[in-house]
Amino acid sequence: MQVRIVEVGPRDGLQNEKAIIPTVEKINFINRLSETGLRNIEASSFVNPKWIPQLADADEVLNGIQRNPAVSYSALVPNVRGLARAKAANLQEIAVFMSASETHNLKNINKTIEDTFPVLAEVVKNASADGIRVRGYVSTVFGCPYEGEVSIENSLRVTDALLEMGVYEVSIGDTIGVATPRQVHDVFSQLIWSFGSARLAAHFHDTRGTGLANVVAALAEGIRIFDSSLGGLGGCPYAPGAAGNISTEELVYLLEGMGYETGVDLDKLIAAGAFIQEQLGRQLPSKVLQAKLSASSCPT
Ligand code: HMG
Ligand code: MG
Repeated sequence: MQVRIVEVGPRDGLQNEKAIIPTVEKINFINRLSETGLRNIEASSFVNPKWIPQLADADEVLNGIQRNPAVSYSALVPNVRGLARAKAANLQEIAVFMSASETHNLKNINKTIEDTFPVLAEVVKNASADGIRVRGYVSTVFGCPYEGEVSIENSLRVTDALLEMGVYEVSIGDTIGVATPRQVHDVFSQLIWSFGSARLAAHFHDTRGTGLANVVAALAEGIRIFDSSLGGLGGCPYAPGAAGNISTEELVYLLEGMGYETGVDLDKLIAAGAFIQEQLGRQLPSKVLQAKLSASSCPT
């Protein structure tokens, strides 16, 4: 059985690192990821660079990478201004994003949920007219840093609105990493009942150590698309306390061990993880990365 992994490290990961990686090394990082067997890479973000200075070089990065024809490269786009930048960078895929909770939506994209719908609908319509595929994200589905619990009705409403606009799948976000497997079961069973499992992805952050347990719970519900970041890079600058995404190495190790096929070469991932860890000058949280690196430096 196959599982598709969407690598979000160059975007979700690097947007929240204190160190700003030189553009040339971001390009190097994405080129390495492109050779690991990953088929979906979210490479950067065409948001207002004042809001996310870490990704202000999105245009140069997307124009500088070596495109592997087997990989679909994507970037976040919040409005038509971002879409124009994505088109100029010759992207064939983008992602729009909003939150299930009002306060996070306001803090993250400076609009109410209601005011966000027409903005994103215009982006999806214009992108689709040019043959650009659009993915959707719903953030704060499992909890909001400002409001606490988020009702499932909100998540159903926003997911429905994005699918109606024409996104090809919706990634369901545990932005601040509060979910536990029981909540994953509750939320995904309701979403799948309404929309089916084929157009839903799971986007877990590992703030409280429940990330991989949540993957197993989502697999049991029928989810077969997962977002992750190499090394466990990541977070959300507008979600205080949010930690990195689940790590791609750990996800691949887990899935392959459970008999799922990911098409990803773990050794190549480890090499790319070692590279970005060195660039950042800090040890990344991925246990599989650290175990592999320490095993290779131990005398046998
Ligand atoms: P705003 O300030 O309300 O925008 O921001 P505006 O339309 O009023 O424009 C203000 C200025 O920004 C103007 O420039 C625009 O041209 C410029 P000025 O005239 O003042 O010089 N501008 C732009 N410049 C470049 N590219 C653009 C763009 N748009 C406007 N696309 C906006 C609204 C949405 C743009 C802003 O709030 C923003 O950029 N927010 C992004 C925040 C963000 O990236 N957050 C992190 C990603 S979400 C996430 O991590 C969650 C996720 O991982 C899933 C999960 O974990 O749950 C996806
Ligand atoms: Mg995220």
